[in-house]
Amino acid sequence: MSGQRYGLLVAGAVALACAALGPGVALMAAPAPTSAAAAYDDEVELGRQIFTDTGRLAPDYVGNDLKCSNCHLDEGRKADAAPLWAAWGLYPQYRAKNGHVNTFAERIQECFKYSMNGKPPPLGGREVVALETYAAFLAKGQPAGEHVPGQGYLKLPRPPEAPDYARGQAVFQANCVACHGADGAGQRSGDQVLFPPLWGPRSFNWGAGMSDINNAAGFIKANMPQGQEGKLSVQEAWDVAAFVDSHPRPQDPRFTGSTDETRKRFHDNPQSMYGLTVNGVRLGGDGK
Ligand code: HEC
Ligand code: HEC
Repeated sequence: MSGQRYGLLVAGAVALACAALGPGVALMAAPAPTSAAAAYDDEVELGRQIFTDTGRLAPDYVGNDLKCSNCHLDEGRKADAAPLWAAWGLYPQYRAKNGHVNTFAERIQECFKYSMNGKPPPLGGREVVALETYAAFLAKGQPAGEHVPGQGYLKLPRPPEAPDYARGQAVFQANCVACHGADGAGQRSGDQVLFPPLWGPRSFNWGAGMSDINNAAGFIKANMPQGQEGKLSVQEAWDVAAFVDSHPRPQDPRFTGSTDETRKRFHDNPQSMYGLTVNGVRLGGDGK
């Protein structure tokens, strides 16, 4: 590209940027950060706060009672709880779920859409940039482009016996109700969520990774019951995951208008209970 043409392009971009600000908006209106390092630190801290208090700080994009750190534990630092430091270097990455190469920013958008049952915040917007900055900060010194130990959730071996609802219910009653409640709805105190909901209208939706039994089993085996991690056997983790993921939750945002068709297109595998009937309830049933 010739220098002259480049100059024209830059001039055009500046003109566009000024036009976008609108008439009368002074370019210097935002408070200038005291230094580049302080501006960076502020952005990391904003990302950390959005990650751990998502509903309050990104309310337009959250449709349930969860926050990012409910599943990405220890503020996104805990190994085997899909830590951000292990995720950052793996993107851009092809994802079968949406059939194209996803940037890290798009991966964040997907957890808003499904796990947070909300809307994807805009690329390049306040939320996405802060969360990207936080992840990049946590990932300092990590190798890029390769899986590091602790990345994602545990990939559990198949259980000795097929996951079973009734056995899972017994595991749930003995190990989970004290915090998550007998109805799986979690516990609140006023507008504070003390323990997050595992199913029902305020939990993750049917498009979320956690609604697949294998993902939930891996998460639960490594991380639950909180404070007694590792207590459950592989079989118990699969059974209780099957139990949790056999309850109603918000509709898959990719719902085509028909539960049968939505199962066929997005849930046609043994890890998803979507579209199946459990205890007389059609999971993901039209209108639920
Ligand atoms: C209900 C649980 C849940 C919540 C809440 C949640 N996520 Fe996730 N997240 C997952 C699951 C499941 C995966 C897939 C992990 C895997 O593939 O092993 C994932 C993956 C990710 C990844 C990619 C990890 C990797 O190693 O490739 C990022 C980044 C991410 N989530 C960011 C977020 C952000 C940001 C939020 C909040 C806006 C959030 N998540 C909320 C469950 C959740
Ligand atoms: C001592 C309280 C406690 C017990 C017992 C407990 N959990 Fe949790 N659980 C939590 C907390 C707190 C979080 C959110 C983690 C955070 O924010 O650090 C959580 C998060 C979760 C999540 C991801 C977030 C969501 O809402 O879906 C799942 C799934 C889960 N627990 C399943 C279970 C299962 C299954 C059991 C029983 C085997 C269990 N938990 C036992 C406290 C508990």
